[in-house]
Amino acid sequence: MKIILIRFSIILGLLAATQVFAEDIKRDFSTVMQGAKIFKENCSVCHGHHGQGNPGWRTRGSDGKLLPPPLNGSGHAWHHTLPILRQRVLYGGIPTGGSMPPFRDKLKLPEIDAIIAWLQSRWPDDIFKKWENANRLEKRR
Ligand code: HEC
Repeated sequence: MKIILIRFSIILGLLAATQVFAEDIKRDFSTVMQGAKIFKENCSVCHGHHGQGNPGWRTRGSDGKLLPPPLNGSGHAWHHTLPILRQRVLYGGIPTGGSMPPFRDKLKLPEIDAIIAWLQSRWPDDIFKKWENANRLEKRR
């Protein structure tokens, strides 16, 4: 278990190093619409059609695991910078004891970025600004 966790953190470290400096997400209309479609096909079954999450997301399910949280700006997904959001989707939550499946074999990075662009088009402006500032600070580090 320890070895798996160490290996996982090395992967995360490498990913963070390469992706922190990656370009920002494209946010044009067609990317956002593409993101909406990919989200509906892959994520809405758990996170809800509008990314609203499971109403009981602050509590745990009967198996002791977290329920799918909102991604529409009302939860805490916006506390994660872009590299972390991408990692959550690529690797899912299973390696850290959660239940979200990984999407690294199913979706390409531009598709994941399109989903993030669509989700963020639903975030309140002040939440999005805070997220942008956090990303800017991280890039400067
Ligand atoms: C089988 C259900 C399921 C599917 C399908 C799923 N998720 Fe999740 N997701 C979860 C759960 C449950 C969590 C909470 C962490 C955990 O237990 O893995 C989560 C957490 C997240 C987080 C972290 C949010 C936070 O506030 O920390 C993001 C981002 C996310 N999911 C995005 C997605 C995207 C994008 C897709 C589709 C490509 C997707 N999820 C598909 C169940 C799912």
